[in-house]
Amino acid sequence: MKKTLIAATLIAATLAAPAAELKLIPWPAKVTPQTGQFTLNEQTVVTADAPFTNEAALLAGELHLKCAATANENQIRLTTRGAEGLGEEAYRLEVDPQGATIHAQSPAGAFYGCQTLRQLLKTEAHTLPQVKIEDAPQFAWRGFMLDVSRHFFDQPTLLRLLDEMAGYKLNRFHIHLTDDQGWRLAIGKYPELTQTGARGNYSDQNAPPRFFTKAEMQEIVRYAAQRHIVVVPEIDMPGHAHAAARAFPKLGGGANTLNPASEATYDFLQNVLLEVMDIFPSPWIHVGGDEVNAGAWNKNAEVAKEMQAKGFADTQQLRKAFMQRMARFIEEHGRTTAVWHEALATEPDPQTVIFLWRPIQAALKKALATGHPVVLTPAEPFYFSARAKDAAGNQTFRNTLEAVYRGTSLLTNVPPAQFKQILGLQACVWTEHIGSVPELDNAIMPRLAALAETAWTPDAVRNFAQFQARLKSSANQ
Ligand code: ACM
Repeated sequence: MKKTLIAATLIAATLAAPAAELKLIPWPAKVTPQTGQFTLNEQTVVTADAPFTNEAALLAGELHLKCAATANENQIRLTTRGAEGLGEEAYRLEVDPQGATIHAQSPAGAFYGCQTLRQLLKTEAHTLPQVKIEDAPQFAWRGFMLDVSRHFFDQPTLLRLLDEMAGYKLNRFHIHLTDDQGWRLAIGKYPELTQTGARGNYSDQNAPPRFFTKAEMQEIVRYAAQRHIVVVPEIDMPGHAHAAARAFPKLGGGANTLNPASEATYDFLQNVLLEVMDIFPSPWIHVGGDEVNAGAWNKNAEVAKEMQAKGFADTQQLRKAFMQRMARFIEEHGRTTAVWHEALATEPDPQTVIFLWRPIQAALKKALATGHPVVLTPAEPFYFSARAKDAAGNQTFRNTLEAVYRGTSLLTNVPPAQFKQILGLQACVWTEHIGSVPELDNAIMPRLAALAETAWTPDAVRNFAQFQARLKSSANQ
């Protein structure tokens, strides 16, 4: 009798996958393992309520299954039924021996349920462990930024990156399209921007022009949207703009700036932004505003004349007028302006989203006190390109997997009343020293997985040792 009991317990234990053995990243908010499993076969179909046909088609394609209108069993079902009370990106996944059901209110929630299901299938091909998962993200903004100016990365590379992001439930792809080394987006009104401005990169000033055509970028945006990723474009101004000034020397304001005293600069930027807003449906348009070289403006006669005419005491006032004018233009077109945190000095409207990147506590405090939504992308630990030398003198990345995983510690001092202003977290890859796809992959993985879990999983449920174990075993699949 006793022996039978032990045997039965053992069988139950092997059948109910212990939660820690599920190779899920990011770890869900709540996992309840149960006994049993659902085995997929060639007759298994994916069925979906009308709002989830896109998500069902993607899942069926990836699992080589067929979609069906209805089924009684042996199905993966995506449904709004039983999803009452679930939030915008939330889902509930239930697996029993007859099939798997993903309950969600929104297509995004259904999509995230599908990502979890795919990861469960990676643990053991064709078999889903019986389980109940209730899940929703900790942060709404789970972002990754890539600089395609210093070195260009092409459309196939970006589509693969978007797949990787989607699998980890990341949902914002911020693309740094313009900087001193290259202008990487074709603008119909200004072909010189890419003929001249896209020539060269950080390693080679004479490299042939590389840039995205409008059609290529529209495909990237469409592919991302299908995977619930918003592509947020950045046109950096008025600094980091040497590529534009190379194409149109009259627009240059000295060093790598645009001339804030010339109406031609505003005409140009507004025309560019109109085309950008046409390509990118993103609610947010990022206009940089970082590291503006005001010293260059001090030496510019046109700037001096404009300051005198406007009664400005210093270039700071001119910078403020510039940023506010660009923000107004964006807002008049129904979008929200996003800037790096240096632009806080230009007193942006409170709805402007502030991206915090450098020793951030003071800037965080100021941004929150002035009512801004913020995205936390501090160089430490979220610049994945930041380098250091290890003890043996070899180049490594400065920010470790563990430092990334513990990134929310930066929020320890945020008063609860201001916490809702934290949109979320973002990692950045600047590409001065990253010029090839293997180098890019090396910078991104596995820290992207750590970022994803930090941004998605509630702090109370996260555990670095368990994360490492899951990461290791999923890498071994
Ligand atoms: C930045 O790192 N200049 C945003």
